[in-house]
Amino acid sequence: MSLICELSDLQRLYHKRVPKMFQGYCESGSWTQQTLTLNKSDFNQILFRQRVARDLEPRSLRSQLVGQDVKMPLALAPVGLLGMQHADGEILAAQAAEEFGIPFTLSTMSICSIETVAANTQKPFWFQLYVQKDREFTKKLIDRAKAAGCSALVLTLDLQMIGRRHADHRNGMTAPPRLTIPNIIDIARRPRWALDMLKTQNRQFGNIQGCATGVEDMNDLMKWTAGSFDTKLSWDDIRYFRDIWQGPLILKGIMEVEDAKECVKLGADAIVVSNHGGRQLDGTRSTISTLPEIVSAVGDQLEVWLDGGIRSGQDIIRAKALGAKGVMVGRPMVYGLGAMGKSGVSKMLQIFHEEAELTMAFIGHRDIHQINRDDIVFKRDAF
Ligand code: FNR
Repeated sequence: MSLICELSDLQRLYHKRVPKMFQGYCESGSWTQQTLTLNKSDFNQILFRQRVARDLEPRSLRSQLVGQDVKMPLALAPVGLLGMQHADGEILAAQAAEEFGIPFTLSTMSICSIETVAANTQKPFWFQLYVQKDREFTKKLIDRAKAAGCSALVLTLDLQMIGRRHADHRNGMTAPPRLTIPNIIDIARRPRWALDMLKTQNRQFGNIQGCATGVEDMNDLMKWTAGSFDTKLSWDDIRYFRDIWQGPLILKGIMEVEDAKECVKLGADAIVVSNHGGRQLDGTRSTISTLPEIVSAVGDQLEVWLDGGIRSGQDIIRAKALGAKGVMVGRPMVYGLGAMGKSGVSKMLQIFHEEAELTMAFIGHRDIHQINRDDIVFKRDAF
């Protein structure tokens, strides 16, 4: 096996093993992909201040996210169709997360159901909810998450409609893939993926079967989503979910201070500054450039986390320095999973942990809680 030193090594392997259609679904952003690009490139504007002659023993990244002890302040973000990147993808990623000591979030749009993931894991995971027009069905999803022992609810607010993702249109993205001649040729070049999928071909969208959408053809994801997702969501609706979910509530997809203040008002435990990994509103700011103003407005009233563009342990430290209590990662998990299954996700987590710990030491700290705004400068201020 080739040597895996950093995330890009897993990404290279991922490109070899996973069909183009699912690569496109994972990697692309919406429209011109400006926001997707900014999410990553804005991290490069943040430079560290190197410190020397410090006592650096012992070192720890241990933290708490909504009251849960974590080995580092990172959670695996909800990603739809994980079970198409690798058979049983949701189970494998959840197992890797629990073994490592960080939370896994199961998407509403997962292939394996809440119950299947619960039956194959030891510790509670988190459930991510998309609010459906069919409210009875939405409420049942929450009941199922409770019954399965999910320990936090992540309510995603930035996908009432799907952003226009050209790659998915061009690839004729479906799950499972529609077997056109180009798809058959592409899949034939990736026998490991094909064999793996054969094992689990009966599993399909385990959570949303039975949702009354009026769109029967689940193969047309865009149409299904348009028929099913609630396009009339209000803060009052969200308050209802706050009332019926007694555990920690995390609101995801917050990019503006005014919305962050609404989250405080309705008693959210955490918010995720997120633009859905640049997959929804293209042309919006990067999450890392938005983070400081949101932290300064509400950071003393709830936990402010960030996702989007984190590609190394160094990026975790950059986000911490700008005030994030924690971070989530989406694509890095998918690269690990598609490349090497569970051991690929574990590898990604191990690499990020090592990179974060080493960076923390180089900037003169041995505990992640010591990291602060004075540890960084912006490139434009650097001279
Ligand atoms: C996502 N994301 C997402 N979010 C969510 O709340 N529910 C979901 O089902 C999905 N599905 C999904 C699929 C894929 C392929 C990607 C890449 C992302 C968004 C995700 O939770 C997270 O916000 C971003 O992935 C963060 O950006 P990075 O880490 O991918 O740069």
